[in-house]
Amino acid sequence: MLSVASLLGSLLSRSSGGPTAKIGSFQWVHTSYNKPGLLLEMVQSVIPPITFISHKGLAGRIAVIGGSKEYTGAPYFAAISALKVGADLSHVFCTEGASTVIKSYSPELIVHPILESKFAVHETSEWLERMHAVVLGPGLGRDPVVCLDTAKSILEEVKKKNLPLVVDADGLFLVTEYPDLIKSYGKAILTPNIVEFGRLYEKTMGEKPKPEEPVLAVKVLSRALGNVTIVKKGPNDIISDGENGRFKVKCYHSKERS
Ligand SMILES: *[C@@H]1O[C@H](CO)[C@@H](O)[C@H](O)[C@H]1NC(C)=O
Repeated sequence: MLSVASLLGSLLSRSSGGPTAKIGSFQWVHTSYNKPGLLLEMVQSVIPPITFISHKGLAGRIAVIGGSKEYTGAPYFAAISALKVGADLSHVFCTEGASTVIKSYSPELIVHPILESKFAVHETSEWLERMHAVVLGPGLGRDPVVCLDTAKSILEEVKKKNLPLVVDADGLFLVTEYPDLIKSYGKAILTPNIVEFGRLYEKTMGEKPKPEEPVLAVKVLSRALGNVTIVKKGPNDIISDGENGRFKVKCYHSKERS
């Protein structure tokens, strides 16, 4: 997947012109935005300046909902990446079995082993009051209670609080089970790989996506879900918010996809 860290690194170290600009190791094929400078401005605009009166938390408090007995790496990487690109505080809400493992990866993360508690939704919801953005799904697992029940209720709380939300991995499994859960939530970004995309598309549209029209398929699914943003990961990342597949991103730096 296109990582914000590598995007920033590439953007800040170089600039070039033309509608299809090669920026660092990325090639951007713009459809709506055709000026690389504009893209740089957009990225800069979301990064708060550091000042002497800044306090910890001002530059971002992030919640990652995920981490189970089997999977501890994915929530760690999501949470630590937020810190590496400048957020101040990164919280992980996971199951008890995952928490000591995740804590031992890094002293920088705040880890709440509460997803199996009967107060999970209530407690997480109280923490969400203080959060700026939420990532739901990395390493969540597909336990019927934790994923399809607790995480579902937490997602509803996120919507009530109108927080920006990234849904990945098993969070996409949840959304595929209940597409209405995410429908028309303008602050949602879904990040499916090709398999997750195919499942969600089929569930929502009642047919498989046509492989010969990959950009159109992302736009069609985004519209069907009320214009949520979809970042379909692949050899070309394809991003759409219901408009014309705004970016098709070719990414040459790595052949590894996730
Ligand atoms: C989604 O976006 C398209 C293109 O801008 C627009 O025509 C459509 O009405 C939007 N749909 C919803 C549900 O907002």
